[in-house]
Order: sequence, then C-alpha cells, then structure tokens
Amino acid sequence: MTNLPHERKPRLDGKVAIVTGAGASADVVGNGQATAILFAYEGAKVLLVDNNEERVRGTLDAIKSHGGTASVYTGDVTSAESCRDMVQAALDRYGRLDILHNNVGIGGAGTVVEVSEDVWDSVMEVNVKSMMLTGKYAIPAMAETGGGSIINISSISAIRPRGLTAYTVSKGGVIALTHGMAIDHAAQGIRVNCILPGPVYSSMVAPGMSEDRRDTRRGSSPLGVEGTPWDIAWAAVYLASDESKWVTGVAFPVDGGVTLVSPPR
Ligand SMILES: NC(=O)c1ccc[n+]([C@@H]2O[C@H](COP(=O)([O-])OP(=O)(O)OC[C@H]3O[C@@H](n4cnc5c(N)ncnc54)[C@H](O)[C@@H]3O)[C@@H](O)[C@H]2O)c1
Repeated sequence: MTNLPHERKPRLDGKVAIVTGAGASADVVGNGQATAILFAYEGAKVLLVDNNEERVRGTLDAIKSHGGTASVYTGDVTSAESCRDMVQAALDRYGRLDILHNNVGIGGAGTVVEVSEDVWDSVMEVNVKSMMLTGKYAIPAMAETGGGSIINISSISAIRPRGLTAYTVSKGGVIALTHGMAIDHAAQGIRVNCILPGPVYSSMVAPGMSEDRRDTRRGSSPLGVEGTPWDIAWAAVYLASDESKWVTGVAFPVDGGVTLVSPPR
C-alpha cells in the first residue's frame, strides 16, 4: 500500500561523504560548511576537505557539538595528489565512500575583453578541473561498494550570465561535466547531479556586501526571501540520499525562482 519506512532513520545513515571547501572564507556560514553540517546531522561520516585548516575548524566544531562524526583533510583540490590522498583518507578513516560533494569554487569577474588570461585559467582550474580530479579518484572507490552520489556545485550564472564570463563559462562546464559523468558512470551505480545556487548570502559573497546590495539580491527572487547556504545544503542532502536513487544528470536550480523572472522593461 505504502512504501514509507516504518522507522525514521537519519537520511544518510551509514554513508561516508567527502565535502570539498567545507570551511567558510568569512564570518558567515558557507555553502560547503552548511552541507557538511547537514550531512553529519543526517548520519553521514564526513571528511571535511579544505586548503585552509583555520577556516574548516568551525565546521568540525559544529558537527562535533551535535554528536556527529567528521574529520579534516587539508589539501588543495586543484592538485591530483591531494585528491588521491583525500579519497584514501576517507577510506582509511571510515572504510568506504558513498558521497562526493564538490563545492569548491571561486569567482571570476569581467567580460572577455577585461579578464586576464591568468584569471581565466585559474577559474577553470579551480571550478572545473578540480571536479575532474576529485571524480578521478572518488569514482573507483565508490564503485567498489556498488556506487554512490556525486554532487557538483554549479551556479545560475551558467544559465543567466552577467559580466562574470569566466565564472559563467566554468559553471556551464560544471553542468556539462555533470552530464558526462552521469552517463559515463551510471552502469557503476554512480549518480551525478549538480545544484545551481542562486544569490545566496554565503561566506563567499558576504565580504564587502552592503545591505542595499543584499536587498537587491533578495528582491531578485519572486519569493522575496534571501537564500541561505542551508537552502543549498538541504537540496544536497536529498541528492546525496537514497531518496533520489532514480535521479541522475540533473541540473537543479535552488534560487527562489530567480531564473524564472524576466528583466523589467
Ligand atoms: N553564494 C552564492 O551566491 C553562490 C551562488 C552560486 C554558486 N555558488 C557556489 O558555491 C560554492 C562556494 O560556496 P561557499 O560559500 O562554500 O564558498 P567559500 O568561498 O566560503 O569557500 C569554502 C571553502 O573553500 C575553500 N577552498 C577554496 N579553494 C580551495 C581549493 N583549491 N582546495 C580546497 N579548498 C578550497 C576555502 O578555503 C573555503 O574555506 C562555489 O562553488 C560557488 O561558485 C555560490
């Protein structure tokens, strides 16, 4: 009659997750940070990956204070060696790997006329190449135990550009990478989806953002509500869990409806 479970278990019970960029680069919660905290809250053991040990400490403390299980791996996801070692650390510490959440990403302002080659190359390296590298080592480990879920963080900037062209192209690349990985690894039981966050108030954008600008961003959503990293994190929990076991290759906007709205005439 119904396939509802009799007991409510934590949604990620028994799973092991890697979250990249699990720290926060400012004094405001980050997208990766919120996701790592909710993954642990829902029962996953979480490897917190960041290239800055200081920034990730708050995430570890928050998880521990709720009785969750997590530990830190300090490394740079643009380095193949770090990506290989980070996967090995998850296997050594927790015995398996079920979830890879690729959150690391940096901004890149300017048109093609304005942007420097160095900025262009570094945005592509941090935002796209890193996800190829983490996947290269995580996928064989996930396949060993029958599969897993990979979540890549893109952006609505990929489908709604505005003068951040290096960033837009990199986040479009993340969508294409998601589609490619979803097809290539479906037979191994690995699902690959991406989230397109809208203008959420997170550690990445908070520094220097005025209240006026926050208001404008809030007003860009037909809901009239400011998005937070927790909104992104709950979407990630769904995609990481078995609730989404028949969902792969999806580009999921979590944007309060921002991308539905046309510019005023
Ligand atoms: N805030 C928004 O409005 C918004 C909108 C769309 C997409 N996003 C996406 O959200 C993601 C970032 O969110 P956040 O709030 O967690 O950002 P954040 O800037 O706070 O970064 C999180 C962590 O990533 C770490 N990091 C940076 N480069 C790294 C590297 N090479 N290797 C390992 N760690 C590294 C930083 O030290 C930091 O602690 C990005 O992919 C971004 O493009 C944000």
